[in-house]
Amino acid sequence: MIEVALSPTEIKDYRSQPLDSFTSVVFDTLRATSSIITGLAHGVTAFVPLETLEEARARKRSDPALLLAGERRGVAPPGFDLGNSPREFKKLAGQKILLTTTNGTAALRSVAGSAEVLVGALLNIDALAAAVAESRPTQLLLVCAGTHEDFSLEDAITAGALVHRLCSLGQQELSDAAILVRCLYEKVADDLEVWLKRSRNGRALLEINKENDIVDCSRLSVLSAVGVLRGEEVVLRA
Ligand code: MLT
Repeated sequence: MIEVALSPTEIKDYRSQPLDSFTSVVFDTLRATSSIITGLAHGVTAFVPLETLEEARARKRSDPALLLAGERRGVAPPGFDLGNSPREFKKLAGQKILLTTTNGTAALRSVAGSAEVLVGALLNIDALAAAVAESRPTQLLLVCAGTHEDFSLEDAITAGALVHRLCSLGQQELSDAAILVRCLYEKVADDLEVWLKRSRNGRALLEINKENDIVDCSRLSVLSAVGVLRGEEVVLRA
């Protein structure tokens, strides 16, 4: 059965129950999981997802060799080495990165108790579908990180892209929310960049002159990297 947590409120509901029988896939299309996939595809050794600025700054103090990346209100917080634009992570091969973002890194931490936690984006959608199909989970939870406390269109679209592919590979058991996101994706698949720009997050990124990030995050299945949470780190899934 494929289930979908469509918003942070629904993620909290899952967080309060045992998740050890679930494989979870986390989507924060604009931009945290797109940045993670881009970094892993370009040789970043690991991302450490952290929920709060305090936690991230404390980790940086205790290990200054690590890079500190992330955003609040879309831009790098004071003192950070990097923001949260996918292209910032293309030339950091061999580095480990502490990452804190408004929703994405919190969503990753929320489902850390799952049997396996994968990282998804439009960028790696075919590789992700192949990884999920290969591991044949009996319960699959698609986690849409959302925007602050709300549903976000772009994460639902990406979850739908995965459901669409898993259905082509023979998956038949879908929750109502999984049917919903599949229908959404099939409606918008030919114009992903346009729909991402229409989303609340897309409009916020346009306002701060980060159109390139939306363009980068809209590209469908151009990378084969799949991220997996191992302990506290997201690394390349072998
Ligand atoms: C988030 O975690 O909410 C996003 O990645 C936000 C962003 O990158 O602007």
